[in-house]
Amino acid sequence: MASKYKSQTSSIYLKNSDVPKNKLGIEGSEQIHELERELLEEAYDVFYDELDENTVFDENYFIALHKRTFGDLYDWAGVYRDFNMSKGESRFCQGAYIQSSSQKIFSELEKENYLKEYEFKSKKEFAQKLAYYKCELIALHPFSELNGRITRLFFDMIALYNGYKYINYATVTPAEYIDAAIECVVYADSEKMEKIIFNGLKKA
Ligand SMILES: Nc1ncnc2c1ncn2[C@@H]1O[C@H](COP(=O)(O)OP(=O)(O)O)[C@@H](O)[C@H]1O
Ligand SMILES: [Mg+2]
Repeated sequence: MASKYKSQTSSIYLKNSDVPKNKLGIEGSEQIHELERELLEEAYDVFYDELDENTVFDENYFIALHKRTFGDLYDWAGVYRDFNMSKGESRFCQGAYIQSSSQKIFSELEKENYLKEYEFKSKKEFAQKLAYYKCELIALHPFSELNGRITRLFFDMIALYNGYKYINYATVTPAEYIDAAIECVVYADSEKMEKIIFNGLKKA
């Protein structure tokens, strides 16, 4: 079974490489990662500029972040994966259930008005909600790649909407961040992520 998943997941990459097959025919790892960095930086500017009181942080918005940020580079941008995936010991949502699970997460988020009412509520409450939904999306891991970055972009826009700066994740090491992500995926526990987000939230 493992080999089946492996061949399916790795099919987005060039052979023996961490470079995803891409529309520009780029083969160099450094080159593709630099380009991804630039595209993400541009996306932050674009979505920052577009953000206004009518912005709705729904599933379409989330998918559009992925599609519009990386669509010039990857044809799977904005497309949910249909294969199973894991990292380390963590198994993400099964490919077959991504659509329905995503809809469930976003309909829950809709009931909370997409977390658009936290400007004058406590930071603790906001961090708790952000962490809960962030953990849900981490466990969903809906795209073939670039989930971490797009999920952070999504919650950064929600933070901005509520009068905060982008969430600073540099208060922890990458290993500590992954540890918090593991708690999300394996134990559905968002406590560690909540602490990270709380410490990384500052009013603009
Ligand atoms: N061992 C793990 N257990 C659970 N989640 C993990 C693990 N490793 C990575 N992750 C999650 O997956 C994300 C990385 O996914 P990926 O699609 O490669 O996105 P990106 O390339 O933007 O970092 C991390 O940010 C984290 O949320
Ligand atoms: Mg990655």
